[in-house]
Amino acid sequence: MKVLHIDSSIFGDASVSRQLSQAIVTQLTAKHSDASVEYLDLATQMIPHLTAEILMGQDAEQAALGEKIIQQYLDADVVVVGAAMYNFGLPSTLKAWIDRISVAGKTFQYTENGPVGLAGDKKAYIASSRGGVYGENSPADFQEGFLQTVFNFTGVKDVEIIRAEGVNMGPELKEQAIASALAQVQAL
Ligand SMILES: Cc1cc2nc3c(=O)[nH]c(=O)nc-3n(C[C@H](O)[C@H](O)[C@H](O)COP(=O)(O)O)c2cc1C
Repeated sequence: MKVLHIDSSIFGDASVSRQLSQAIVTQLTAKHSDASVEYLDLATQMIPHLTAEILMGQDAEQAALGEKIIQQYLDADVVVVGAAMYNFGLPSTLKAWIDRISVAGKTFQYTENGPVGLAGDKKAYIASSRGGVYGENSPADFQEGFLQTVFNFTGVKDVEIIRAEGVNMGPELKEQAIASALAQVQAL
């Protein structure tokens, strides 16, 4: 089982989403002895933003990197993404990764009946952390919903969200939110 583990928080060891994504990966590797993990730390190894040159394949180095990122995504049986909420959305480093995996003909294609995902045979976990409380389907949430839409669009329908929210609303709430998210992970 190939696990692709991605982190994007800028806060290193103090990050809640990193703590959750690591807990998910630890749980998966404990349960599946054949699991191998590839790790992308987008905060320390940033993927350059898309440019026209990159998109048109005119930058050989970036074209090779793009191919590698897409293949890594296609090959994974499980994707675990640590996704902090920054300004209602995702860290821009994670958006840069999304821009590289969302490629027509590779991870989705347009058909007469609309778009069809090509990367479907996998499960995705979103390790979500946010300072405030939004719950499900908040109109101010462009973080979880965005990532879920990208997974669904590329064919990945099996998406599970492990969420710690309200983590900036006092130490007690933060502790509770993390404990409850970790308990969810233990039950995976
Ligand atoms: C730049 C920045 C922007 C943030 N924007 C929001 C926000 O829009 N809504 C929110 O509830 N929390 C916001 N927060 C709080 C984070 O979501 C919270 O600290 C979360 O734990 C971040 O994940 P991390 O601990 O993995 O870094 C923001 C934090 C930072 C650093």
